[in-house]
Amino acid sequence: MLALGISGHFDLLPALYRTYMHDAAACLVADGELVAAVEEERFNRIKKTNRFPAGAIRACLELAGVEPRDVDAIGFYFGRDLVDLGLGNFHVATPVQPVRWGLDLLQDRLREHFDWEVPADRVVFARHHLAHAWSSFARSGMRDALVVVMDGRGETTSTTIYLAGSGELRELRSYSVPQSLGLLYQDAIGHVGYGFGDEYKVMGLAPYGDPATYREQFRSLYTLLPDGDYAMTPPIPDINPTVAPFYEAGFHDRRAGEPVTQAHKDFAAGLQETLELLAMHVITHWARETGATRLCFTGGVAHNSSLNGVILRSGLFEEVFVHPSSHDAGAAEGAAIVAAASFGAPHTRVERLVSASLGPDLGTPDEVERELRAWSGVVEIERADDVVGVTARLLADGAVVGWAHGRSEFGPRALGNRSILADARPAHNRDRINAMVKKREGFRPFAPAVTPEAAAGYFDLTDTAADHGFMSFVVHVHEDRRAELGAVTHVDGTARVQVVTAEANARFHELITRFGDLTGTPVLLNTSFNNNAEPIVQSVHDAITTYLTTEIDVLVVEDFLVRRRGPVARALDDLVLVPRPTTRLRQDWRPGEEPDGEVYLDYSFGPSAKVSPAVFGLLAAADGESTVAALAGTLTDEVREELVSLWQRRFFALSPKS
Ligand SMILES: [Fe+2]
Repeated sequence: MLALGISGHFDLLPALYRTYMHDAAACLVADGELVAAVEEERFNRIKKTNRFPAGAIRACLELAGVEPRDVDAIGFYFGRDLVDLGLGNFHVATPVQPVRWGLDLLQDRLREHFDWEVPADRVVFARHHLAHAWSSFARSGMRDALVVVMDGRGETTSTTIYLAGSGELRELRSYSVPQSLGLLYQDAIGHVGYGFGDEYKVMGLAPYGDPATYREQFRSLYTLLPDGDYAMTPPIPDINPTVAPFYEAGFHDRRAGEPVTQAHKDFAAGLQETLELLAMHVITHWARETGATRLCFTGGVAHNSSLNGVILRSGLFEEVFVHPSSHDAGAAEGAAIVAAASFGAPHTRVERLVSASLGPDLGTPDEVERELRAWSGVVEIERADDVVGVTARLLADGAVVGWAHGRSEFGPRALGNRSILADARPAHNRDRINAMVKKREGFRPFAPAVTPEAAAGYFDLTDTAADHGFMSFVVHVHEDRRAELGAVTHVDGTARVQVVTAEANARFHELITRFGDLTGTPVLLNTSFNNNAEPIVQSVHDAITTYLTTEIDVLVVEDFLVRRRGPVARALDDLVLVPRPTTRLRQDWRPGEEPDGEVYLDYSFGPSAKVSPAVFGLLAAADGESTVAALAGTLTDEVREELVSLWQRRFFALSPKS
């Protein structure tokens, strides 16, 4: 039984609001085994995209070596009623669009992209939380478990409790959308200058604050009820419930880009405390009610690794599993499992997911080398016989390394195949990496990757068994090790640890081990290989682009070391300027004034930037084949700097001439 799972939407125009049907992805489940999984954002380069996952589907089919006609069942990650309700609302608001429904649109897109005629009876619209639940339980290695799904919302629910056993999931209770903890968090972080998709940043800010400052205000938002129930006042999502009490308390919102004050830190601490309190109220009740000793925790809220650490330390369970793709991309996998079951192939496999490296690789060795060599006007390329040993030495000598190897990870965490790596010891490495690549808030911690042999010597992994391979749990760094791990220990003495086994990732395990041999500390700083404008890199092209538009010291792609030849602004002339599919230009005129030129990316919340007349003309002329020099003639230093800045923000791609 070959089942394809899909999340995302159907490429309707105008582009859907970014929070609607997000995390587009495809997963292929073959006889219960997850053989391929990747998010569409890795291809269209739009974070958490809600476009149709055509690139992801194609990649999954190629990875498995199958054709569309080989697919027995297709699962979609939301129920048909909700999909069509959303479309109905869209049609009313967008009269230019013909009225079409979910199943038709899904068939249309598959026909367009793959020349694939899918019979309607091959498509299963899975209940959203059931899809989340199956993706987690199926990979947990558990025969029975309490399964808790917690997210923004499913069809009409925000949390659903299941008891899993004997190959079945039995629903015990669901919580309404007005009780949504995912939406509470998402709404609340607007007060500190963040929005959808930024929840983990506010989680990182929380340890700097005092939750007592706004405890009274947060407590006014909810009432704990018996039997693991609670009520929100006023109920989400009728109105953002967090507004009134904080304004009455004199709280001043932070607008995006403004400094973070102690009040904002205290707010973050109070919010995180509230999430933990309410989630534990629910989970504790159902642990006691069912007597379950194992927990699968999933849904978008399960990416809150601080909460996950609290669950581990609660002592409620002997074992906890958190899927590396607990957000809606993972629900695509669960939808495939639900679809397979509906065609007579229920999931029976009991095997723990060892590795999240489920996406496409970088190409064959020849392809990788050819692609790198194409950039040789801009970078030096050197094949290393012992690339792991050389990289370990570079890291020990203080280099920050971009590291791309093997298949990409499924989920928001880079786990050693698409990573930026550095020595985890010097505290200043955090500021260095922020300055050279991430340009992100200084308060956000970086994560440590450690070998299993050394993990217990540095981290308190708790008595509760858990898979620490996916960076899902915040744990305590042993007090006497905190100074040693200055770059990865958070202000409260914790770390979002990744324990890297040789079984999960032999090359990364060897790299950490050999770094440890050189330094005495087998721990590396591991952060995702991207800058702040894009999703994690997928391809060789993405890796080189990110390397060239940051100040990362060395790029390692498979067995090759890559170093820039000089300042990138001097290297633009012979590169081809390629507009992205979403690149747009516009000019605004005020009568009597010169027009203002702007470049923007055409999707919900896509970025925009004012551009000079020279660069506007250059972008307007770009045909995807001409070099920058051919378009612009002689480049001034100002134009060079402007182009580099726009390239850093990914308004277009630059490629070597083929
Ligand atoms: Fe979800």
